[in-house]
Amino acid sequence: MNRPSASSSSRWPLPADDEWSTPFAELLLEQLDLRPGLTILDIACGHGIPAFYLAEQVGPTGSVLGIDASRGQVANARTIQRGELPWLRYECVDMRALPASLPTFQRITGNLSVMFLRPHRFEAMRGLIEHLEPGGQVVLTFPSLGTFDSIWQRIDHEMSRHGLTRERERLAAYVAERPSAAEARGWLEQLQMERIDVIERPLEVASGSGQRFLQHPLLRGGFLDDAYECFEDDRLADTVMTSVAADLESMTPLTARRCALSGWKRGLA
Ligand SMILES: C[S@@+](CC[C@H](N)C(=O)[O-])C[C@H]1O[C@@H](n2cnc3c(N)ncnc32)[C@H](O)[C@@H]1O
Repeated sequence: MNRPSASSSSRWPLPADDEWSTPFAELLLEQLDLRPGLTILDIACGHGIPAFYLAEQVGPTGSVLGIDASRGQVANARTIQRGELPWLRYECVDMRALPASLPTFQRITGNLSVMFLRPHRFEAMRGLIEHLEPGGQVVLTFPSLGTFDSIWQRIDHEMSRHGLTRERERLAAYVAERPSAAEARGWLEQLQMERIDVIERPLEVASGSGQRFLQHPLLRGGFLDDAYECFEDDRLADTVMTSVAADLESMTPLTARRCALSGWKRGLA
């Protein structure tokens, strides 16, 4: 997490050099009704995007609880915090099974969170909304269905050239598992949320070809590892993925879909 830049009026801005979390968080902030004094639960908080920014904005009359399933991420966030913004806390909690002792919040946010609500995303969403105050708002972002389709199509083509039927089936299942903007809207409708708004914007990711593609910090950890998992034979995986990586031109632009969903719980504002 970057420290504040001199040009910013915020001491805890979104990191300008983060080409993935920050554009998603910007979309989240576009949807969020953010005011001093609010209580916020930030799920899948990682090392604090956008929890630090939110905490600064709600100020000492509000509070922010950032939760993440990874102890390492929570430790990183606490290290960055270094005792500042004392109304911001980080805890290690699974967002799919919030403890009944957790209070309700006026806002629930989660940047790059929805994909990790699996496998029972609707039930997990219902659990979250139980911790939202009546009149409160939820805003979550995620890369929606269609993200990096050009990559999946190219991998599928290469698998097909090698006659890899089972691998192709696994890849198709992985791609289809990504929630769509329409599906996300459907969850909020089923939960009888009000003023539902779901927006989607393209985000282009730059990469070189070959190893620069295969080891791209965002593509590898968040996406390509899943493609490798479609193979039983590691050497075959390397052969296919190396061919794909050499043919970057046929995949560009590498476009993700930034999706932000917002809804308000019925009741007093
Ligand atoms: C892509 S990162 C996003 C982190 C941060 N919000 C950001 O924008 O940079 C997703 C985070 O979700 C966390 N996560 C995954 N499954 C989770 C779960 N079931 N409960 C809570 N956090 C989870 C991961 O540990 C990871 O830190």
